[in-house]
Amino acid sequence: MPTKITIQKIEKSHISEVDFNNLPFGEVFTDYMFECDYKNGAWQVPKIVPYHNISLAPSAKVFHYGQACFEGMKAYRDNQDKIWLFRPDENQKRINKSLKRLAMPEFPANYFMEGLTTLVNLEKDWIKQGEGNSLYLRPFAIATEAGVSASPANEYKFMIICSPAKAYFSGEVRVRIADKYSRSANGGTGFAKAAGNYAGQFYPQELAHKEGLQQVIWTDASTHQNIEEAGAMNVFFRINDTLYTAPTSDRILDGVTRKSLIDLAKLMGYKVEVRYVTVNELIACAKDGSLKEIFGAGTAAVISPVLGFSYKDEAYETPLPDNSYALKLKKHLTDIQTNKAEDPFGWRVLVE
Ligand code: COI
Repeated sequence: MPTKITIQKIEKSHISEVDFNNLPFGEVFTDYMFECDYKNGAWQVPKIVPYHNISLAPSAKVFHYGQACFEGMKAYRDNQDKIWLFRPDENQKRINKSLKRLAMPEFPANYFMEGLTTLVNLEKDWIKQGEGNSLYLRPFAIATEAGVSASPANEYKFMIICSPAKAYFSGEVRVRIADKYSRSANGGTGFAKAAGNYAGQFYPQELAHKEGLQQVIWTDASTHQNIEEAGAMNVFFRINDTLYTAPTSDRILDGVTRKSLIDLAKLMGYKVEVRYVTVNELIACAKDGSLKEIFGAGTAAVISPVLGFSYKDEAYETPLPDNSYALKLKKHLTDIQTNKAEDPFGWRVLVE
């Protein structure tokens, strides 16, 4: 397998046209992208090329059957100008789980890691120092083969694009707890970062937006009682002084931030229980005051406090308390990611 990635250089970077103080999430992209094609039963020689539009047949299977999946990762610049990735091996393994579930060919780990680090090295200037700054990395794969027979494609494209990022949410976050629509079901693709998992959330999410709510928190499809995740992030509840988050399953994304927070919270001396919180329990705890905090956790969202939730016709407020666990966890996690704090778990990976 070739390990030398070819690089096609750009003539001039467009970085000077970018306002780094005003970066809506995921709208600005860097100069280069990583690209690798799958054909004749094998991934071909990967390359890094100028960021460009791609051309596909209208019959390409990705457009018809949604054979597509992705990852979300970030690179950070520390105070000494070193560049770091956070647990990239987790994303590498997870995209292969997603690919497998969608009957797509797994992507070689060495191509993934080498492609990612070569790309991040080339795009270093786009990673700014300072709180909240990062380069969001979006590895993804699509079925490119032309033809509308409903069967897995024989040709694919794996790409990585990069977007300088600040906060995912621009304001306060309040959520609707799902009682009608579902994100995933037993035996489905909920654990994968399948593109279609996200498309299926957009309509209920739009209904929530119309009510002034930013996200939907999904419940299990059969009873709508067990609280699962929020689609763009996993969710944590603090009831009294214990943190709760749902167990992973074939319905829930095994979030890298989620699993890191479980370990970090324990290290910080917080009690953590991985078990379902039910809707009835959440409402009872909101009413009796034992529900202290709700927050989302994800790569894009980092840790986002949820300041209220609606269920059916009732709305409940969950203002940020003094001594917020969410804010303490966020500070510790981002300090590890940006090399300001010890990394006892060995999560940081230096990009050289
Ligand atoms: C991420 O956190 O990277 C995600 O994949 C969420 C995304 C839908 C913005």
